[in-house]
Amino acid sequence: MVTGGCGACVVLLSKYDPVRDEVENFSVSSCLTLVCSVDRCSITTSEGLGNSKDGFHPIHQRFSGFHASQCGYCTPGMCISLFSALVNAEKTPRAEPPPGFSKLTVSEAEKAIAGNLCRCTGYRPIVDACKSFAADVDMEDLGINSFWKKGESKETKISKLPFYNPSDQICTFPEFLKDEIRSSMQRNSKTSSWYNPFSVEELQSMLESNLAENGTLVKLVVGNTGTGYYKEILDQYDKFIDLRYIPELSVITRDQKGIKIGATVTISKAILALKEGNNGEFHSQVFQKIADHMEKIASGFIRNTASVGGNLVMAQRNYFPSDIATILLAVGSTVNIMTDLKHYKLTLEEFLGRSPLDYGSVLFSVHIPCWEPARNGSKKSSTKLLFETYRAAPRPLGNALAYLNAAFLAEVTPCKTSNGVIIDNIQLAFGAYGTKCAIRARKVEEFLAGKQLSVNVLSEAIKLLGAIVVPEVGTSSAAYRSSLAVGFLFEFLHPLVDAFLTKPSKIISIHKQFDIENVASLLSRKLVVESNQKYYPVGEPITKAGAAIQASGEAVFVDDISSPTNCLHGAFIYSTKPLARVKGVKIRSKALQDRVAGLISVGDIPEGGDNVGAKTMFGFEPLFADDLTRFAGQRIAFVVADTQKLADLAAESALVDYDTENLEPPILTVEEAVDRSSFFEVPPFLYPAQVGDFSKGMAEADHKILSAEIKLGSQYYFYMETQTSLAIPDEDNCMVVYSSSQCPEFAHSTIASCLGVSEHNVRVITRRVGGGFGGKAIRAMPVATACALAANKLRRPVRTYLNRKTDMVMAGGRHPMKVTYSVGFKSNGKITALHLGILINGGFSVDISPIMPRNMIGALKKYDWGALSFDIKVCKTNHSTKSAMRAPGEVQASFIAEAVLEHVASVLSMNVDSVRNRNLHTVESLKLFYEDSAGEYFEYTLPSIWDKLAKSSCLHQRIEMIQQFNGSNKWQKRGISRVPIVHEVALRPTPGKVSILQDGSVVVEVGGIELGQGIWTKVKQMTAFALSSIQCDGTEDLLEKVRVVQADTLSLIQGGFTAGSTTSESSCEAVRLCCNILVERLYPVKNKLLDKAGSVKWESLILQVLLMPKSGRQSGIRCASSGLRMTCKEEIYGAPVWVLGGGEWILGMIHGLNEIPDHVRRCLIVALRSLSRCTTRSLPTLRPCNVSLHLGMLPDCFLAYLGTKELASLIEAFSPICHSTLSTSSSSSPLFSALATTVWGNRQFDSGRGRGDYNCGDHGFSCRGHGQGGGVVVVIVVVLRVSENVPIVVWRITLWIIVGISMVVMLLMRPQSLRRIQKSTTWPLLSYLPQDLPHSREHPYLNVSSILHEMSLLLTVIHFPLMSAKAHSQAVNLSTSSYYVPDFTSMHYLNYGAAVSEVEVNLVTGGTKILQADIIYDCGQSLNPAVDLGQVEGAFVQGLGFFMLEEYETNSDGLVVADGTWTYKIPTIDTIPKWFNVEVLNSGHHQKRVLSSKASGEPPLLLAVSVHCATRAAIKEARKQLSCWKGLEGCDDSTIFQLEVPATMPVVKELCGLDNVECYLESLLLSVATS
Ligand SMILES: Cc1cc2nc3c(=O)[nH]c(=O)nc-3n(C[C@H](O)[C@H](O)[C@H](O)COP(=O)(O)OP(=O)(O)OC[C@H]3O[C@@H](n4cnc5c(N)ncnc54)[C@H](O)[C@@H]3O)c2cc1C
Ligand code: FES
Repeated sequence: MVTGGCGACVVLLSKYDPVRDEVENFSVSSCLTLVCSVDRCSITTSEGLGNSKDGFHPIHQRFSGFHASQCGYCTPGMCISLFSALVNAEKTPRAEPPPGFSKLTVSEAEKAIAGNLCRCTGYRPIVDACKSFAADVDMEDLGINSFWKKGESKETKISKLPFYNPSDQICTFPEFLKDEIRSSMQRNSKTSSWYNPFSVEELQSMLESNLAENGTLVKLVVGNTGTGYYKEILDQYDKFIDLRYIPELSVITRDQKGIKIGATVTISKAILALKEGNNGEFHSQVFQKIADHMEKIASGFIRNTASVGGNLVMAQRNYFPSDIATILLAVGSTVNIMTDLKHYKLTLEEFLGRSPLDYGSVLFSVHIPCWEPARNGSKKSSTKLLFETYRAAPRPLGNALAYLNAAFLAEVTPCKTSNGVIIDNIQLAFGAYGTKCAIRARKVEEFLAGKQLSVNVLSEAIKLLGAIVVPEVGTSSAAYRSSLAVGFLFEFLHPLVDAFLTKPSKIISIHKQFDIENVASLLSRKLVVESNQKYYPVGEPITKAGAAIQASGEAVFVDDISSPTNCLHGAFIYSTKPLARVKGVKIRSKALQDRVAGLISVGDIPEGGDNVGAKTMFGFEPLFADDLTRFAGQRIAFVVADTQKLADLAAESALVDYDTENLEPPILTVEEAVDRSSFFEVPPFLYPAQVGDFSKGMAEADHKILSAEIKLGSQYYFYMETQTSLAIPDEDNCMVVYSSSQCPEFAHSTIASCLGVSEHNVRVITRRVGGGFGGKAIRAMPVATACALAANKLRRPVRTYLNRKTDMVMAGGRHPMKVTYSVGFKSNGKITALHLGILINGGFSVDISPIMPRNMIGALKKYDWGALSFDIKVCKTNHSTKSAMRAPGEVQASFIAEAVLEHVASVLSMNVDSVRNRNLHTVESLKLFYEDSAGEYFEYTLPSIWDKLAKSSCLHQRIEMIQQFNGSNKWQKRGISRVPIVHEVALRPTPGKVSILQDGSVVVEVGGIELGQGIWTKVKQMTAFALSSIQCDGTEDLLEKVRVVQADTLSLIQGGFTAGSTTSESSCEAVRLCCNILVERLYPVKNKLLDKAGSVKWESLILQVLLMPKSGRQSGIRCASSGLRMTCKEEIYGAPVWVLGGGEWILGMIHGLNEIPDHVRRCLIVALRSLSRCTTRSLPTLRPCNVSLHLGMLPDCFLAYLGTKELASLIEAFSPICHSTLSTSSSSSPLFSALATTVWGNRQFDSGRGRGDYNCGDHGFSCRGHGQGGGVVVVIVVVLRVSENVPIVVWRITLWIIVGISMVVMLLMRPQSLRRIQKSTTWPLLSYLPQDLPHSREHPYLNVSSILHEMSLLLTVIHFPLMSAKAHSQAVNLSTSSYYVPDFTSMHYLNYGAAVSEVEVNLVTGGTKILQADIIYDCGQSLNPAVDLGQVEGAFVQGLGFFMLEEYETNSDGLVVADGTWTYKIPTIDTIPKWFNVEVLNSGHHQKRVLSSKASGEPPLLLAVSVHCATRAAIKEARKQLSCWKGLEGCDDSTIFQLEVPATMPVVKELCGLDNVECYLESLLLSVATS
């Protein structure tokens, strides 16, 4: 089920050539790479480049700093693609780059990630990160980042970039492997089923023996990329023969006759060879153009392994829509094949035309001849050879199959008798248009040969061609494909008609005028973000939390969690019928049946459980079809097997027995739903109110449009991480489920209902989600529930990771709809009334569809419609359930509003922008339309945005320039459009929890899930901001101390949905509430400390609090067994001194945690050693004890002061003592236990070293030693740092007093107390006295006096008997949770923004190019402008996908057929705006918002409608021109049309005229005839 189409799994493959002693590095798609094919290779993942342990690579650091990672799922693949480009650039002979840069050029850097998909970022920041390595980069061109500040000099900027040194080679190939390869140059050519023949003879004998072995299935393999398209089941083969080691198949030879490329040569290598030695001769130019075309095939990481021969064989045998076949056909290439062990040479045309190559035949090589006019037999010096290749595909830079490709080679001569051109010869090849193989248009060639080129001849040739290039029945966009053939031929020949007459030498350059796919320099941008210092660090554009580990691939997604023992994997079997009885399901293959562990279906739901797969407030959705399946894509069963591959195979091969007899026909359209009254109920409180009186408004209108229609299709989420879950049965009928979910709370409840257990038996954990966009909200629940159900039944862990196809079939996606509108308007463009009839296709289950009317009307009201009425129905159909997708309903409504205005403007022949202007809201009309959410008048920022954008984008100047451009260009037209948005959002109640740990670090839980939208980053900032109001020293560094942790439905309840754009802000607010409570609790302590010490550090405050008595009677820490109580008595320079048990013992308290100098650490070690001597001396008979160690306290102290290494050595130092303790008392020392457990428990030291069994506690925070009795070890390390202004003598005296008292107490106490308690436990009091330090000669650094000059040290270890957990608890509760409930009056609010987009349309292909997009978006006072900017750009590009590219197609039964990267095209780097200017407005008008911030997740997606509108404007120009050509100027309504969504190339071309070329030629002929 792999496709190689997304790039998320790209790794670096390295091969070693022992002869040349060279390592070759290149990126590959790991999903398509067969394990046996990488024998003796080395693989480097992104983590191999750098990681959190060894340090990140500059690529990771720059990706992180340029905010180029959002959800992070695509990022490791991106990093490797860039790394591969960097490595290969270094091999070029280019000049050495300046320090910190590479030899990569900007253009190469941009293309390095072409083909890697990212659904979150919109690519801009990724491009910046890539370009930052290019030697020729313009630093001004790099966008917002965390490295430098605005206005810094170029030099400073460069110095702040994480340094890249190309000579810091990453070892991509280990030496040991090189040695191994050198020592056995000739490798074993055979494994059980994998064969590597090294010669043709060896290959021949293998093929021969296979012929003999009847029934053996053999697969010849090179790069194996073909399986990305044909989804072959490789398990069916008995043998694989890897052709790559046969020299004859891998050579490239070039001579005067041409270039011979071995069949196993990769496309990347062929490109290099074809580009090599371009000496300006014609054949070199041909080779160069072939290479240029090949660069648009697939993507770099595919071309690196995909072979030329594999491509041709796929084209020949499987009719693959190959580019290589077409372009090589045009230049008369030949192939060499071996069939039945004999060699043949055939022309490529013969090869493609003959019967499919049988599986025993081998393609050896392809030969591309050299073409030169002289060598072609022509003696005439004026003869020219022309060669061009063409390709129309949804994405110009590749990774998209062509609708049609073509290549033409012509020999032309100026006509002697007249001003014209004679075509001596011409070769025309067309392919990929829905034909079996690429073809030569022989009839047209023959027609043209020898003819003098004229409009008439061209016109005739085109007519002939139209009859030849005819796609096979069933091919999509058939007419469009034929029109492309015509268009390309016209492009090729028409310039000759026009230009050859005067300047024959310009032929080649004239051809370039059509070259719209020239994407040499792609992208530029200007970003304006104003950061806001008021709430520091809120408002800072800080780097996204976890971005670096996302880049290195260390971030853990659900599928990265290691499988528990016995884990099974599941795959869904889904229905392919819209309505049918399910009579049975079985796995077709017997072999698979035996390997399947279970087939879970509705019958497996336990007693008391329900058939529920998803729950919302509106209803539920069944987990599995029961007796009936009700839509294509419905889950019928969940097949469970040992591996994901096996489960997928079993599901794929499942045979479902359907029966449709006597069933009503399914409802497959909204019209049918209306006829059969099949609707979902919309609760009245969700149904929006009408505005004004529609009839009155219509009566006021000068003009009316009645019952115009719009249809909108669906959109697939295309999160990079498909749906995934892992369910682990736990004790006592509990279930722990890891789910990639946007609302774990509801998944939790659904699972409990399905299993029929209480909700406390279920726990759902979500750490991060690899992209959601709404699709991981409700749609993730059935996946988690199915895993839980299977795990429940089989009592084994069960996980699944849906393959892309299943995910696409089941996902549902955005709501399709049909809209009918009637609108009344004045002659000046002012609209007086609008009525909408909207039929929304909700699919089969209710999901959240009832929110659609409200969402739609919320966004539609962006204009003042005068009066607005509507009738919205949510239809229940037999389609897959539709769900929320980013800006659900709002994006469609925003589009509808624009379509209405465009229609009005067209009817009035007015400029659309002025119609928009006229209908923008005034403050009054805004209040009327948005009663609850309009806010104060000053919050309405749209008018100022609108004007500001006109200026910043130079709108009016550009409109003029575009008019000029359109006037002087026939085949490209441009359009520009400015569009506003008003997007209503609502805050929802959200929980938060903040806990401060002993070292002052902070852990936060929030209801919102990290989906890439940066919620954790904003929450961190808010936590740091809110806690810093305590005003301690060090709170400015709090940001670093905050960690937001995974959502756990049993830890934080009521998490709700992460949706609707407001979860970040409401989570921030919940956290702020928590922090406020904590600050309130901390204030008294802080004030007390402040009074005494003058300043308080954050860490000191927290530690102080930890040992502080609660208050009054309850103050102190009570010792459970002895009843002793610790109370605070004294403080020494901010370090409290605690007196235990009414003055018996004195302990020191930590002061000054940071930056312990090394020598102090060493002191502590020696002190502990000396202490241990003391231990054995004073307590020779330690009893075995049950040590319950609270590591929450202990390791923090130790690790902070000593570090693990020192601790380890300390334990070593303790060993002898402990031995002796053991030998005398056969028990373990509690102190040793404590230390050992600290280190071993945490660091996996050997726990069986004879010092007792130290088992890590189940939650990792407490450890137990063996033995009897009980107790708690509390180790308190005291470092009293001498404040500079405290005389040392005062310090010494104080210490001596403390020590003295403690000694006295000890002496006084020991005889009675110790004996009293000895029965139950030990009671050691150990004091370390400074003068006991070993002599300085032995420990030079331990010179007592020098230590006392710098610090004083007191270390006390006590062992409290049976001190209960409560006794250890803090006096101040350092953890709190809250539930933020927004104020009803301000929970709804409006977001404003506007965009100007400029688009160029190619009238020959229908291709669109977004030349520029300018956006201003009001984020209020952004919580993090970098995060918000990323949201704006990412949303815009996702919207662009909806409006321009993404076709989520189904068959007539409603089964999704656009089910993978081959058929579903999301934007890539080459389809985003070439210039992209974004301003995140820091308006600060929004006091009722969370710190004046506003939402950014969804509203900017609506702005992408500006691209659609600009395309419409360009098409209008094209249609006006077409009307002229048709002689209909001024008398038709060509400017009134609906432009479908998405406006794909076929759609655009159809509106520009599928026959526009023919019309143009006819108009020329007509004008010649009439003149
Ligand atoms: C994501 C993606 C996008 C792509 N986009 C394009 C595109 O836009 N345009 C385009 O033209 N192509 C495209 N391709 C196709 C790609 O070029 C081919 O998959 C590739 O060239 C096949 O080479 P391979 O070495 O991987 O062949 P393999 O997959 O190893 O083999 C393919 C088939 O050919 C057989 N075979 C291979 N070599 C020989 C031989 N020498 N003799 C006999 N049989 C042989 C194999 O047995 C197998 O049946 C794309 C591929 C992918 C994965
Ligand atoms: S960051 Fe690229 S897909 Fe999410």
